[in-house]
Amino acid sequence: MQTGPTTTQTTSTSVNTSGAWDLQLCSPSKINLFLRVTRRRDDGFHDLASLFQTLSLHDKLYFRVTTDTGKDTMECNIGGIPTDERNLIIRAFQTYRKYTGLDKQDDNKQFLHTRLEKTIPHEAGLGGGSSNAATALWAINKLNGNKCSTAELIDMGAQFGSDISFFFSATGTAFCTGRGEVVDDVHPGLTCDYPVYVVKPPEGLSTGRVFGTLDIARCSQRDPQALLSDMQRDILTADFVNDLETPSFQLVPRLGQLKERLYEAGFKVVMMSGSGTSFFCIGQPNDADFVDKFGRENDVKVFPTQFQNRRSDAMWYFE
Ligand code: C5P
Repeated sequence: MQTGPTTTQTTSTSVNTSGAWDLQLCSPSKINLFLRVTRRRDDGFHDLASLFQTLSLHDKLYFRVTTDTGKDTMECNIGGIPTDERNLIIRAFQTYRKYTGLDKQDDNKQFLHTRLEKTIPHEAGLGGGSSNAATALWAINKLNGNKCSTAELIDMGAQFGSDISFFFSATGTAFCTGRGEVVDDVHPGLTCDYPVYVVKPPEGLSTGRVFGTLDIARCSQRDPQALLSDMQRDILTADFVNDLETPSFQLVPRLGQLKERLYEAGFKVVMMSGSGTSFFCIGQPNDADFVDKFGRENDVKVFPTQFQNRRSDAMWYFE
């Protein structure tokens, strides 16, 4: 999920975040433990069957209700992120008001100012933009007395991105189908708290470009239900499949070499997440200095993280 082109109206600031915010929420990243593409649809999208899992690697979002600005506004700690309607956070607020009819109320003069502190890398297949959008929907709903149900928030998310709905899963582990917006909660017990290393090369890929390069005839034939059962039985002996690896490796050939090097570094599992370009690695590296050394030698960023589930669907991931 991308936030859009990054040409105009971007704001980078380093304001003191201890000021008066009405709500502060963490916006988690996700990986796809497996991702099967099962069909190309008539609407140009693809049907998927994928096991999504949230990670502790997260962005931070701060929200303030305002009556002064006449529109929703936002700021970001790094440059290059659009802060106007191209940002999914602003789109989330607009979608929510339209869905609930709040936009039609004459006395509705309340808008939101959001500060986004970005850590999740962009064009990485980690769902950063989608998670920010889901977190923004959760926030505006909470600030409006939880007017909408989870099912309605899932429906709203699906209107402007395929991966947004997943983040409303009750636990943060879900088997998703359709475009990705049909969310079935899966018990996270078998997969919780695993240490994971996320590795992100500087090259990025847009989701649309990767799906556009995919040759459906070259996808795995593995039954998604069998992949799910194997993974729930024992994640360390399960097969990790991502049908988007082949087109992504075609577009950025260095990704294939990077995957080999990560196996050589000692991991049991190395798999690209979503449409890339990041990899998640499960197991322990041979070298205690892996994070710095591998990052330096391969010109990549390494994020030590872990599977992180939601404690209750009455709360956001970590507040
Ligand atoms: O929904 P999202 O904005 O993530 O999709 C970006 C692009 O990726 C879509 O325009 C579409 O080309 C492609 N896509 C797809 N099938 C999906 C999800 C995305 O073909 N299930």
